[in-house]
Amino acid sequence: MSNEDILRAKYGDAPIELAMVLGSGLSHIIDAVDGEAIKFSELEGFPHGGVSGHNPSMKIGLFEGKRVAILGGRQHYYEQGNAAAMREPIRTLNAMGAKRLLLTNAAGSLRSDMAPGSIMCLSDHINMSGINPLIGEPSDARFVPLTDAHDSGMRTALHKAANRAGETLRDGVYVWWSGPSFETPAEIRMLKILGGDAVGMSTVPEVILARYYKMRVAAISVITNMAAGLSSEQISHEHTKSMAPIGAARLEAVLHEYLQELDPEG
Ligand code: HPA
Repeated sequence: MSNEDILRAKYGDAPIELAMVLGSGLSHIIDAVDGEAIKFSELEGFPHGGVSGHNPSMKIGLFEGKRVAILGGRQHYYEQGNAAAMREPIRTLNAMGAKRLLLTNAAGSLRSDMAPGSIMCLSDHINMSGINPLIGEPSDARFVPLTDAHDSGMRTALHKAANRAGETLRDGVYVWWSGPSFETPAEIRMLKILGGDAVGMSTVPEVILARYYKMRVAAISVITNMAAGLSSEQISHEHTKSMAPIGAARLEAVLHEYLQELDPEG
């Protein structure tokens, strides 16, 4: 049985209006969706690695009355050196008819006016890893254009939702740094010069895969810390997990508004 068949047998095959991936420290947002979870380990080719703060399971169910597929976690490139680790989940969601993907992550801020606890919608990204999930893809379909990878309709709708929720949603460029070690202060100074606003270890491979499958995609970062050298606080994964809930509450407020008024364009 394909993953689509397994998921349809469990959840039915009504259209999925939005697919979502939850980042570090954000996996509890899966509880906002009704229904029983299925473990990634029950689905062929889904990653079941283990970064703490991630929940390797998914659900399809209602969120604000809209049918969503929500993944409680992801596999990162730094876990096994596989940038395409999220390919099968994204392929499956697309095969099930999800046309929109919203990615979330925890990230460090490069901007003094974007403090921990802020949320930022990605206007664009910079791939600093030199890696790409489509390396090895044999067909010409691998030459995916990324000129407007971050969907303008979804971004506009997310900003409107933030306004209705009374939350400030920044806009900015996300830099993918492979990790798992954090950056040095010199690297952060470089990333600022290059035009980055936030830095993190995920999301970009999934944006590329989503565009490969011709899904519309947008992403939101929850800022958990100032990047290396920009403040006196010690950066750590523990710190990321402990700070994520502050921005997560803001993200959740935006998601409720976004889903309430979800329309075909946004
Ligand atoms: N750098 C990279 N990834 C991160 C950070 C950071 O400062 N914070 C949370 N994820």
